[in-house]
Amino acid sequence: MSAKKRVAILISGRGSNMEALIGAASQPGFPAEIVGVFSNKPDAKGLETAAAAGIATASRSHRDFDSREAFDAAIEEQLAAWNAGLVCHAGFMRILSEGFTSRWAGKMLNIHPSLLPSFRGLHTHRAALDAGVKLHGCTVHFVTPELDGGPAIIQAAVPVMAGDNEDTLSARVLEQEHRIYPKALEWVASGAVRYEDGKVTGPQRANPSPALVSPAL
Ligand code: GRF
Repeated sequence: MSAKKRVAILISGRGSNMEALIGAASQPGFPAEIVGVFSNKPDAKGLETAAAAGIATASRSHRDFDSREAFDAAIEEQLAAWNAGLVCHAGFMRILSEGFTSRWAGKMLNIHPSLLPSFRGLHTHRAALDAGVKLHGCTVHFVTPELDGGPAIIQAAVPVMAGDNEDTLSARVLEQEHRIYPKALEWVASGAVRYEDGKVTGPQRANPSPALVSPAL
């Protein structure tokens, strides 16, 4: 078997997606290992979780840097120190400079809590409820300079139910985030899925269920 890909995770908070990735990577045969977790918030809860799992952690506040580029350089220094070959954003609340995203093209993944390209940016569950959509969900995509604009690797859709609020809807989506992010990382780390000319390539298994209909017929 070829060597496992060395993955760094960038977080800003709770870190439940990070935990899902750590859990998957701890399984024998998974093609990636988590070599470090970086946060721009020194008090991020996820840092404690990562350390408890025996994973190296680092944090630098973006407030201590004069420019986005200077902060990004500090992140890249840390990634180099960990010899990371892939980067997973998991609730990382900073926008990266174009130079950084270009250098990591095809090697940086993000999870976004909506069915992109709907509802980019923040407060996606509120936006979905306000828009009245009947299906919502989450997307794992390659990171490109365009915010939440990179090509999708995998998406999961969930029904929006009558009476949903942001909490109930986000919990339903989060459950799916934890399922699809490890799978996307597995595919990218193994080379089954690749980023080429701004598109995602690789064999895909068709989902045999014809459709998710909401509300039910
Ligand atoms: C998730 O909903 C993720 O999709 C979004 O931020 C949230 C982070 O949650 N980017 P967690 O820190 O992974 O628990």
